[in-house]
Formats: sequence, C-alpha cells, structure tokens
Amino acid sequence: MNFWLAPLHGITNYHFRNCLARHTQGISTAITPFLPVQSHERLNVKKWNDILPENNTCFFTIPQLIGNAPSHFVDTIVELQQFGYQHFNWNIGCPAQQVVRKQRGCGLMPFPEKVEEVVEKVLTHTHCGFSVKMRLGMYSIEESYQIIQRLNNYPLDNIIVHPRLGIQQYEGIPDHHYFHQVMELSKNQVIYSGDIFDGSSYQKLRQHFPKLETVLLGRGILRNIFLAEELTNEITMDENRYRRFSDFYNDLSITLLSYRSKNGALSQMKELWHYFYVFFSLTPKELQKILRINSWQEFDDYIQELIRKSLTIN
Ligand SMILES: Cc1cc2nc3c(=O)[nH]c(=O)nc-3n(C[C@H](O)[C@H](O)[C@H](O)COP(=O)(O)O)c2cc1C
Repeated sequence: MNFWLAPLHGITNYHFRNCLARHTQGISTAITPFLPVQSHERLNVKKWNDILPENNTCFFTIPQLIGNAPSHFVDTIVELQQFGYQHFNWNIGCPAQQVVRKQRGCGLMPFPEKVEEVVEKVLTHTHCGFSVKMRLGMYSIEESYQIIQRLNNYPLDNIIVHPRLGIQQYEGIPDHHYFHQVMELSKNQVIYSGDIFDGSSYQKLRQHFPKLETVLLGRGILRNIFLAEELTNEITMDENRYRRFSDFYNDLSITLLSYRSKNGALSQMKELWHYFYVFFSLTPKELQKILRINSWQEFDDYIQELIRKSLTIN
C-alpha cells in the first residue's frame, strides 16, 4: 500500500511536511493544500512558497490547484512546469461555503460539463499528469457518477475520492458502498481518502477494497504522526513513540518560531493540537485547557510537562 499525505489547508504546509518527513517514515507523496489558479497576467508563482522546489525536497510533491476557468489552469500549470512539476491535482471536493459559493471545489460537482471542460483543456494544452480530488457529490451521489463517466474518456493520473457528500462536511461515516460503486465505474485509478485513523479502520478498508493501491492519510496522521509507519509495519505502536514525538515537537516549534512571531506560532501550534491531543489520550476538556493558554512560553512549558509525564508512564 502507498500512503500519501492528504492536503489540509492551513495545516499541512511545507514546514509541517518537512518536519513530518524528518521524524517519521511511511509517507511517499504529499499533495499540497490548494492554490488558486490564475490567468497568466495575474500569476506570481514565486510567491507560492509552499510549492517552491527548494522547500519540497522530502516527499514527492503534487501541487493542488483550485478554480474553474479552463484557461487559468493552463496558464498556472505551464508556469509551474518551469519549476519542474509534472503532476497536478485539482480540488473539486472542498465543501467550505466561501469556496462552493464561487462554484469552486465541491461547488463544481453538480456541473459535470464544467469539470470535463477543465480536464479536456488541461490535457490538450499541457503535457502534464493530471488528477482530481473529489467527494461523492455536493448534494447527491449522482454527481460523482456523472463526473466519473465523463472522466473515463481521459487518461488521468488518478481520481481521489473522499466518500462523503459536500453537505455532510465531516459528519457521518465515509460511505464504502458508494466508494465501491465509484471504483467499479471508473476507468482511471481510484485512491481513497477518509477517516483512516488507526489499524482497525485501515484493516476494514483493506478487507472491503483489497485492490486499493493508495490511501491518503489526513486527520489520522495528525492524531498520530507515526500512523503511516505503524500501518506499513503492522505494529500497534512504537515503544519510543513519545521520545520521537518530543523530537518532532521540538523541531516543529523551532521551525514555527523561525518564520512567525510567538503569537503566530502559538496559534499555528494550537491548530495542530486539535489533533495531537489524541496521541496523548487527553479528554476534550483537557484540550480546552491547553487551548486557553495565551503565551507561547506557558504553552510550551505545559506541553513539555505533558511529554515528560508520558515518557515516564510509558
Ligand atoms: C482542516 C482541513 C483542511 C483541508 N484542506 C484540504 C485541501 O486544501 N484540499 C483538499 O483536497 N482537501 C482538503 N481537506 C480534506 C482532506 O484532504 C481529506 O480528504 C479529508 O479530511 C478526509 O480524510 P481524513 O479523514 O484522512 O482527514 C481538508 C480537510 C480538513 C479537515
């Protein structure tokens, strides 16, 4: 099985990706959080630190794009190819209201002809590998059937499916039944994304889809940064995991402080602790206590103590 790092906007930026790569194993490829496509005149990709090749030496990196104008995709991809990228992913799964309202992300799923238009234009005007990341639909599963059928006419790198509807956001459980239907219907390779949090959710996925070759890990790898290697080696947990987490956390802290103010670094770190707290088996109440801390130093002292306790108990 190949494990790829899922894109999480505001979280899996290159600083995080590089820290993850320095301290854990098992991830081969990362898809970046989305970047908006632009027309040639408005494009300044040099500002896109997240995809500059020098910032992406650890994982094989696939830039993710968002937008809906076919010519903007061509302009952006041609520019990014000069940085050496040959594979791109298109986000038609983001269900955030401000994105959907502009008929981007999942807001495009009810319009299969528009999806096809972009794919057709990209494949005829650029020589790149192109893939799509989608949900089952914005409002209805029918939407993905329509899109998959149209995309069957094009040789895509793959289609990544997060098997929920946009209107569900992250509610409910990923629908394996409809994921199966999509897999059967698609002539392109299908990749899975959604709620792989531990060995048990992963085993269930493997039982349901023995032919699956690639899985994206998102919130699961934030909850347990060693998830990919634990799943690869079929181990429940590495006995040195708290020592290694400590090294990762210290590296991440130094990294965050190298480019942000203490307040900025604190708010970024708090974002991450919405997930990391699971690794320490903290309760939501204990998490709230951490999130109320308002100074970097106090926060760091608290976390160092938490890690120290975990090291002595385990
Ligand atoms: C905070 C957050 C930000 C996300 N940002 C992106 C994004 O930029 N592009 C994208 O395709 N998916 C994005 N996703 C969706 C994830 O890539 C993934 O498909 C989804 O979370 C389900 O997988 P998981 O349960 O492994 O996290 C985001 C999800 C979350 C929770």
